[in-house]
Amino acid sequence: MGIGGSDMYRQQILDHYKNPRNYGEIEEPTFTHVGENPMCGDTIEMDVVLDDDESTIEGVAFRGDGCAISQAAASMLSEELQGMETDVLEEMDRDDIIDMLGVDISPMRVKCAVLAEKVAQDGLEIYLGEKDLDMTTTEEDD
Ligand code: FES
Repeated sequence: MGIGGSDMYRQQILDHYKNPRNYGEIEEPTFTHVGENPMCGDTIEMDVVLDDDESTIEGVAFRGDGCAISQAAASMLSEELQGMETDVLEEMDRDDIIDMLGVDISPMRVKCAVLAEKVAQDGLEIYLGEKDLDMTTTEEDD
C-alpha cells in the first residue's frame, strides 16, 4: 500500500478497507457532499445528520471508490465523527487524519488519507453558508 508503520495499524487499515463502517446512505441527511482525488479519480460521498441546534454530528454514512487508504480513512473518520461537535470537525486537519491512521504516509498518499476529512469539512461549511463549492478535490492543499 505504500505505507510504513506498525503491523497493528496496517491491519486496522486493511480491516476498515475490507469491512467499511457506516458504509451506505442515510435517508434525509442534513447534508450530503462528494469529493474526488483528481490524481486517480477516486471518490467519497458522505451523508451527515446534525442535531437540532446544528452543533453536534449525530450520524454519518459514506460510500465511495478508491484505494485502501482513502476508504479506510473514510471508515475510521465516520466512527470518529459520530457525536463530534461541529466546531471540532471544522478545526480538523491532515495531522489529525495521519494520527488517526497511525502510519507514515508518503506525500502522494496524504491526498488519499485526507479526502474523507475534506469532504466532511467542506460539506459542513457549505451547509453553514461559509463556503460555496460543488465538489471537493484534494488539489489545493497538500
Ligand atoms: Fe485514489 Fe488513493 S489512489 S484516493
